[in-house]
Amino acid sequence: MAERILISDAHLYVGKAVGVDAWVYNKRSSGGIIFLQLRDGSGFIQAVVEKSSVSEEAWAISEKITLESSVSISGVVSKHPRRDEYELQVSEVKVYHIADEYPIGKKEHGPDFLLDHRHLWIRSRRQWAIMRIRNAVINATYEWMAKNRFVKFDSPILTPNACEGTTTLFEVEYFDLGKAYLSQSGQLYLEAAIASLGRVFDFGPVFRAEKSKTRRHLTEFWMMDAEAAFVRHEENLKLQEELISYIVMYVLERCGTEFTILERNTEPLKKITPPFYRMTHEEAVRKLKKMGSRITYDDDLGGEDETKVTSDLDKPLFIEKYPSKIKAFYMKRDPKNPELALCADLIATEGYGEIIGGSEREDDYETLMKRIKEFGLPAGPFKWYLDLRRYGSVPHSGFGYGLERIVAWLSGVPHVREAIPFPRTINRVTP
Ligand code: 4AD
Ligand code: MG
Repeated sequence: MAERILISDAHLYVGKAVGVDAWVYNKRSSGGIIFLQLRDGSGFIQAVVEKSSVSEEAWAISEKITLESSVSISGVVSKHPRRDEYELQVSEVKVYHIADEYPIGKKEHGPDFLLDHRHLWIRSRRQWAIMRIRNAVINATYEWMAKNRFVKFDSPILTPNACEGTTTLFEVEYFDLGKAYLSQSGQLYLEAAIASLGRVFDFGPVFRAEKSKTRRHLTEFWMMDAEAAFVRHEENLKLQEELISYIVMYVLERCGTEFTILERNTEPLKKITPPFYRMTHEEAVRKLKKMGSRITYDDDLGGEDETKVTSDLDKPLFIEKYPSKIKAFYMKRDPKNPELALCADLIATEGYGEIIGGSEREDDYETLMKRIKEFGLPAGPFKWYLDLRRYGSVPHSGFGYGLERIVAWLSGVPHVREAIPFPRTINRVTP
């Protein structure tokens, strides 16, 4: 029996007999040769079945193989004469399963058809590449966090209170205890954790009952929240630009094949190094007004504004110090102008919009209590959060990134729904 290998290791076995377990994602034949395009998860390879060099039985099976059939193939690895590709000169063909007629790939499909078949669509080369880039972003994040002494701290998903405003909460009936809510961000729990661990992060699914049907919004998405004690606004931005630059470099180093499949021009990504650009909210609004936007100084930036304000920039942009009344209750006010929050949104390049929201947090008990009231939030569920300002309160800051926004940006795909395995949007929870 030939040694079973992963396709991605084929280059180590040139001239040797190996076995590969895989799916057939494409097939063509010419005369006495059948070409099987194989995919095993690790990579792609072409298997060449010559009628003259296999048994009659193997040839008959090869003729019967349909798209997406699963197979076990033995053969000798050879290198493509010109390209950096490998082939299998097949000696044996076995079948795990002959697939029914495969619904994807015969013609151009619309997004709804593909999303209805997401369970199959994820097999395409393009989706393979995006999911691998997603994986690399996750690995890069864990690596950076560990190097920078952040400890992973898992926030709960079922929570008694809102983090990011009450209009986008998903409610759950919670036994005899009344309503619970699906977490919008683990931030508040990380604020508790800093008094134990100093620097912490979480990474998991969060939920927003977003009514918006934009290419940047999901109702379930993955967020990485980070929180650090004794870190103020300025240092918070430094951590963010270092993390994002690290992720971009990490992915550029490892995902060459993926970028080629996606036809992603990586030149713009190579410029993503610290420091990033900075602008106050006021400056951003002024710039946008000059560019013809109807935004006012009291408005948050809409998706189009985010694209416009960065259209002439080759690095991400921090927009700092939004009016505090349009930002979350927990943000600390700017001591120089209490109308403004000590916060920043990080806007990606190439029109991909906001990838991070963060701020220094209000650390004074009385002030925070006042904010909770002003924002019309119920004090009861926030009692534990207020406690954090009673027992050794410290200046602290944090931020949260949206994984799908980052993956869509790096992959160069226009819509976040392709950046998550099974997207949930306002009108889709299946498959
Ligand atoms: O700006 P947001 O709402 O910030 C927070 O939730 C803070 N509590 C984070 C923190 O300070 N720890 O969300 C953070 C990021 C956004 O910048 C965006 O990238 C992403 O999460 N995001 C979404 N991604 C996809 N679909 C949605 N509906 C999103 N809403 C926010
Ligand atoms: Mg935000």
